[in-house]
Amino acid sequence: MKYTAIILILLQCCLALKANSTILHKYESIFNFGDSLSDTGNYLRSAGDHAILPISPYGKTFFGHPTGRFSDGRLTIDFIAEAVGLPYLKPYLEVVNGSVDARSGVNFAVAGATALDPTFFAARGIPAMTMTNHSLNVQLDWFKKLKSSLCTTQKDCDTYFKKSLFLVGEIGGNDYNLAFALGATFEQLRPIVPNVVGAIANATSMLIEHGVVELVVPGNLPIGCLTSYITTAPPFLKNDANTATGCLNRYNDFAKYHNNYLQQELQVLRQKYSHARIIYADYYGDIMRLFESPTQYGFSKSTHVACCGAGGPFNFNVRMMCGSTSKVCKDPSASILWDGVHLTEAAYRHMAKGLLDGPFTSPRLVA
Ligand SMILES: *[C@@H]1O[C@H](CO)[C@@H](O)[C@H](O)[C@H]1NC(C)=O
Ligand SMILES: *[C@@H]1O[C@H](CO)[C@@H](O)[C@H](O)[C@H]1NC(C)=O
Ligand SMILES: *[C@@H]1O[C@H](CO)[C@@H](O)[C@H](O)[C@H]1NC(C)=O
Ligand SMILES: *[C@@H]1O[C@H](CO)[C@@H](O)[C@H](O)[C@H]1NC(C)=O
Repeated sequence: MKYTAIILILLQCCLALKANSTILHKYESIFNFGDSLSDTGNYLRSAGDHAILPISPYGKTFFGHPTGRFSDGRLTIDFIAEAVGLPYLKPYLEVVNGSVDARSGVNFAVAGATALDPTFFAARGIPAMTMTNHSLNVQLDWFKKLKSSLCTTQKDCDTYFKKSLFLVGEIGGNDYNLAFALGATFEQLRPIVPNVVGAIANATSMLIEHGVVELVVPGNLPIGCLTSYITTAPPFLKNDANTATGCLNRYNDFAKYHNNYLQQELQVLRQKYSHARIIYADYYGDIMRLFESPTQYGFSKSTHVACCGAGGPFNFNVRMMCGSTSKVCKDPSASILWDGVHLTEAAYRHMAKGLLDGPFTSPRLVA
């Protein structure tokens, strides 16, 4: 009896392992849209000599040199590629002029990118990121241009896309980040949430109209936990911090508001395109658990202190971001936040695990 139970447990374990890897290995390509959370080199290539970031010590833990990733090493998208058994995603701007084969996937994400076009913000006098103009629409145009090199006939494309995983984001965080940093109020930014989410939903529809059927659409992070928000928040918001995590409640509530809105729109799309698999990725919950129980994941209790920065209590100064003259912590794997805005490789690894093995995708990416 006892032995049977053990054998059953062993069997379950190994069948489960086989099942997930089989599901993931059905993907023969991965395509990604987004911002600095997943950019693997487009910003660096597009900005050329004007690129201020990410210079050394970015890339210090893995790769050993700056690659254009805004972290000390691999990003969530890199760990997903590893799990699927595919090479790390090449930035589109490297593929487009080279002889690189794009058929195993391409990364269109650009650091600083917004979901809405710069003209949207200009028309409303809302300050928006000026790092790049490569908004989601520009990234979609890149995809349309590239598509003919991936597949030609409708039938060919359908077959190809059935085995392709598309990540539409995270994108949209930058539509709010700068405005908040410059003192925009919740009342000013809440009305644009439907527009930001609309842009993400439109992108998702457009891809499905092109034949894409496997899509992951992530929500926003718990922005109230980021050093950048914590250090620049006005006093009345700083004083409204969660007693357990130290994260700022009102900013996190705003991120949740965006995420709820996004999930509602995805539900509409699921009804319209019932043949597609539209998966919501809960980046908020996936990251929040790290701030709630840092030691359980191997992180120090000083969760809001950036690993790389210009010194001070949070090792963060928005005018002197992580760069060659910064103070870098001894063990980046003990920090959740790399530069106060972006996460460390260690945190991204947990995030990817939470998406692949954990409960943070809905419906589950790996059933
Ligand atoms: C497969 O899933 C199980 C439980 O959901 C998890 O424990 C295991 O680590 C996963 N394996 C892989 C290879 O993702
Ligand atoms: C690609 O090459 C074309 C033509 O040589 C050039 O105009 C364009 O700027 C290049 N693009 C990138 C991203 O290097
Ligand atoms: C974005 O576009 C505006 C208007 O065309 C231009 O002035 C600005 O230099 C562009 N910014 C970047 C980073 O390319
Ligand atoms: C989304 O697409 C609809 C229909 O094409 C359009 O009317 C709307 O302006 C788009 N929204 C955004 C935010 O791009």
